Amino acid sequence: MPKLGKEWEFVNLIIVKDERTLPQRFRIFPMIPASPLPRRSPSHQRWTLDDIPWQSLDRARVTDQELLFYLLTTASFIETATDTYAHNLIEYYAGDEETTTWLEQHWQHEELQHGRALKRYVQTAWPNFDWDQVYQAFFAEFSANCVIEALEPSRCLEMVSRCIVEMGTASYYTTLSRLSPEPVLRQLTQLIREDEIRHYKYFYHYFLRYRQRENMGRWKIFRAVLRRLRMIDGEDSSIALKHAYGILHSGAPFDNRLYRIIQKRARCLMGPQFPHRMSVKMTLNPLDLNPRVQKTVAPTIAFLSRYLLWGEGGMRIKSYGRMYTDLYTRVRVYALNQWARLAE
Ligand SMILES: [Fe+2]
Ligand SMILES: [Fe+2]
Repeated sequence: MPKLGKEWEFVNLIIVKDERTLPQRFRIFPMIPASPLPRRSPSHQRWTLDDIPWQSLDRARVTDQELLFYLLTTASFIETATDTYAHNLIEYYAGDEETTTWLEQHWQHEELQHGRALKRYVQTAWPNFDWDQVYQAFFAEFSANCVIEALEPSRCLEMVSRCIVEMGTASYYTTLSRLSPEPVLRQLTQLIREDEIRHYKYFYHYFLRYRQRENMGRWKIFRAVLRRLRMIDGEDSSIALKHAYGILHSGAPFDNRLYRIIQKRARCLMGPQFPHRMSVKMTLNPLDLNPRVQKTVAPTIAFLSRYLLWGEGGMRIKSYGRMYTDLYTRVRVYALNQWARLAE
């Protein structure tokens, strides 16, 4: 079983890359098409668990990584519990046949497959962990919060909320695939990442339709984005982590302070690989900002996210030099642009 503190060895394994040096497909999230998306047959699956080479899993690379164990176990719990959310969503969009068919036959199915795949990875990498027993305890607590009343007050705003959830999961698995020290995990998280990005595109497509239908204003959409952003890393993650932590440290109390400590460690680990630009672009898309405003706002938020939200602890200190250089360059470019605009 993993030992406390080993995650710092894991940090050393990361090849920290500047996001700008990454291939294009990792850097800029492609523009979302507003045109209707192709429909697939319900039986079509992009990948299955049989496509993963489980026999090649190199346990030695992950078995001592307590932080990685938490990241994967909590994700496997939340993905597996998707059917509770899915039932609520299908009920909420009753009468919209296209949306409910996609939710039921594609989205729910793929999210549950994420849960099964992550469960299998956790069970293979950490065979002493009784996943089923811990999941039951997690689900009993988690399902109490998962009620239809927790959804947004309008169908359009709920679609915005789903976009932000998919943005969060796409960013999470992108980060895990970049920092994974183990090839099978890298492959699995890349597959899940692609699914999550596709889910975002579908929810965004449905959001555009509901926005037109409900004539929803930007301010209300913005507030829905903020509400959902505040919920990321919230109660669901805390409940999942509490149950996973309890197995490794039986009898040890788990409180909010401990949750924040583990969360801070996770941010230090994930921050350098987090796709800041992609997540900011996905977050801003539903606001339909003027392209010139978005061009200024997106890099600024990505910059703040990189250094303030994710740049805690040792990573932050190491990054001061680059932070000042980046800030200086951005201010200079902005000032030159403003000057050029005024001179025209
Ligand atoms: Fe998922
Ligand atoms: Fe998803």
